[in-house]
Amino acid sequence: MDDTLYTRVDRYIEELFGLNDPVLQQVLESTVSAGIPEIQVSSSQGRFLYLLAKLTGARRILEIGSLAGYSTICLGRALPAGGRLISLELIEKHAEVTRHHLALAGLADRAEVVVGPAGESLAALVADGAEPFDMVFIDADKISYPVYLEWALQLTRSGSLIVADNVVRRGGVIDESAQDDGNRGARAFNAALAAEPRVEAVVLQVVGAKGHDGLAIARVR
Ligand code: SAH
Ligand code: DHB
Ligand code: MG
Repeated sequence: MDDTLYTRVDRYIEELFGLNDPVLQQVLESTVSAGIPEIQVSSSQGRFLYLLAKLTGARRILEIGSLAGYSTICLGRALPAGGRLISLELIEKHAEVTRHHLALAGLADRAEVVVGPAGESLAALVADGAEPFDMVFIDADKISYPVYLEWALQLTRSGSLIVADNVVRRGGVIDESAQDDGNRGARAFNAALAAEPRVEAVVLQVVGAKGHDGLAIARVR
């Protein structure tokens, strides 16, 4: 309802908890100067992802949609020694900027970016018999979210965590007249997640500097 209030409270949280340290601040600035859209998670969502990864003790994390690596860094920082993160990104330039930012964050030794359509990269991970991931963060093209859920289930184990961004879309998911790809994808994803016997899950609404949206959280049975 009141985006400016949400933004002010997000700024208060950001300052109180020191969420944008010099590295993340530089990543945000360099994302803009690279001409990449500022559609990364907010700083509090980034800290939330970091905490989820830590809480689950994730040693192997899979991200679908790197953009410029803001969420990648938040997740990568939660890895224990010897942990591994793979981030899938369609656009070569986004992947390059993400790699640069991962190096800046000192994570280049444990995080890698795989370029290409995520559907193909996910199929290759399954075909290669990749070790199961402890956490999957879905944040790429919304229309493909239901497909990404199926791949995520193939690539996880009992107890793994699956998180998906942008599943409320300012209420677009309950507006049947909103038939764009984003809303259709999120709606289909939420329905598939709710009906999926292999997980226990919920959607949480989120407000903040990025407006009104939501995160889906699922634990693999
Ligand atoms: N997770 C990032 C934001 C990701 S934005 C963060 O919070 O910091 C969504 C990203 O998904 C964009 O970089 C876009 O290029 C990428 N993307 C879109 N379609 C894709 C596809 N089919 N496969 C892989 N990545 C895709
Ligand atoms: C878009 C993508 C995102 O992942 C996000 O958090 C916000 C916007 C987009 O494609 O516009
Ligand atoms: Mg997102």
